[in-house]
Amino acid sequence: MCGIVGYFGKKEAQPVLMEGLRRLEYRGYDSAGIATMEGDVIRITRSVGKVSELAALIKEGDQSNVGIAHTRWATHGKPTESNAHPHRSNDGKVAVVHNGIIENYKELKEMLQRSGATFVSETDTEVIAHLIRHELSSGINLVDATRTALVQLKGTYGIIVMSSEYPDYIVAARMGSPLILGVGDNEHYIASDASAILRYTRQMVYLDDGEIAVVGRGGFDIRTLGNKMVEKEIELIDAAEAEIQKMGYPHFMMKEMMEQPDVLLNSTRGRLDVENGMAILGGLRDVADRLRDIERVIIVGCGSAYYAGLVGEYMLEEYAGIPVEVELGSEFRYRKPIISKNTVVIAISQSGETADTLAAVREAKEKGALTLGIVNAVGSTIARETDAGVYNHAGPEIGVASTKAFVSQMTVLALFTLFLGRQRSMSLVTGQRIAKEILELPDKVKEILIQQDKIGDIGLRYKDVAHAYFLGRKYCNPIAMEGALKLKEISYIHAEGYAAGEMKHGPIALIEDGFPVIVLAPKDSVYDKSMSNLEEIRARGGRVIMVTTEGCEIDRNLVDDVIFIPKTLEMLTPILAVIPLQLLAYFVTIEKGLDPDMPRNLAKSVTVE
Ligand code: AGP
Repeated sequence: MCGIVGYFGKKEAQPVLMEGLRRLEYRGYDSAGIATMEGDVIRITRSVGKVSELAALIKEGDQSNVGIAHTRWATHGKPTESNAHPHRSNDGKVAVVHNGIIENYKELKEMLQRSGATFVSETDTEVIAHLIRHELSSGINLVDATRTALVQLKGTYGIIVMSSEYPDYIVAARMGSPLILGVGDNEHYIASDASAILRYTRQMVYLDDGEIAVVGRGGFDIRTLGNKMVEKEIELIDAAEAEIQKMGYPHFMMKEMMEQPDVLLNSTRGRLDVENGMAILGGLRDVADRLRDIERVIIVGCGSAYYAGLVGEYMLEEYAGIPVEVELGSEFRYRKPIISKNTVVIAISQSGETADTLAAVREAKEKGALTLGIVNAVGSTIARETDAGVYNHAGPEIGVASTKAFVSQMTVLALFTLFLGRQRSMSLVTGQRIAKEILELPDKVKEILIQQDKIGDIGLRYKDVAHAYFLGRKYCNPIAMEGALKLKEISYIHAEGYAAGEMKHGPIALIEDGFPVIVLAPKDSVYDKSMSNLEEIRARGGRVIMVTTEGCEIDRNLVDDVIFIPKTLEMLTPILAVIPLQLLAYFVTIEKGLDPDMPRNLAKSVTVE
């Protein structure tokens, strides 16, 4: 998701824009740029990499009070300086930043090239700069040129445009990508989300699709694409900045659970080639050849990240045919791991700052392993210290209990499995089937999230239990452990996750009347075995919540509650199976009057050993 910031006012624009970019880093990006306008000169600076690298390039002494800036997450064209925003017309008189995708950019590009425009990037956005310049050449002003250009676009945009021929204002417009106008005292801000400008103003105007804002010396006005003036209310954001990010949800955890369909879209956007059954992981480009020779995978993580790694172990062994072991960061660092140059160590970490996992990365590098990161926080230490990696693009995860990041971690591991598998013996057909099923996951997650009222009712009935077992086999074994972690870390109910086959080796001794057991039994290759677990538990009076695949015939004498999840590939089932467990833990917690976002004794990122 790209980030956009604009400013028109009395302060120096550059510091405002750079601070705004820093506030938007969480959205994930691979390059950044800024344009300021002084008199009839537009100065543009762009760089691949972090905002800090862009800052190092900017020349001192820029007195301009007008500017636009952007963090780019590549959709069309590689992360390069020439593809970074802002994009400009050939004469440099128009500059644009854009968030969204222009679907008809190719035909517009051809039309503009026929009219003499020269393109220097691979992006769809550059078309917008040339198109507005083209419209301006008919003698209309910047507002009208922007309007007449935008009506020719198909797709989505949140844009800010400025022109040295019209230095008294800038133009912003929204169609499908959020854009917000911050109202100051004789100064105005524009951003893709409030967090970029909250430090300057709490007076916000939310643009709606099809609206254009003209922001200049005299203030601002808002009109439709058809040039009809629109009265908009200035909304006062009076809650603390953190509250803003809850967007109306009661807790971050609920917001982040509900974001999971979008997170799956963002984690896979531009990374799946269904036709060729491949995963396109730009972050692994430089190590792709070395990965061909890899003979062993070690996955390292802590907590939920560790459980995601356990799911990855099943995926990679089954579909990439590579031996995998999964290690707790806190243990790996004390072992004498056998590592060769053909070992790849994958560090999974939402924060990218977990000390135990970071220590494992450093140990692995010391021993000559190739190190990769699956990290959510852009620019974090683990992301920087691993040789290469794949960002989750899950957005900031504020809730201490990991939900959307965990689901994203498993999804990225599925992409990685596709990447490695197709480097090896995975067939085109298998690759296509996996890629297609991954694309269907967001809608399937939605089918589970809409059951939240039913799951809330179940949570109400179990809120007073003192203990609980979570059982799963094969791909759902790690999910049993993750479900237990969710319940214990926010509701403080003692819960244990076990491989279901382990029950008869001791744990079943605890089953007595009313003992709650959550059994993960999707219709998969080990379904029949899981059914025998239900008999064992029932015979001893246990209470059963079963998570299974929709359409399965269930003997209601064996279970107290059933939660159905949609059918998908066995390797992707964990991504769906965890959702009901997240919701269950959440509802039990709030029924107990506890705060799921701030569980006692826990920190979001454990940066100490
Ligand atoms: C998960 O709900 C916990 N908050 C915790 O186990 C977390 O997964 C673990 O600390 C690892 O954090 P990381 O992903 O930021 O490295």
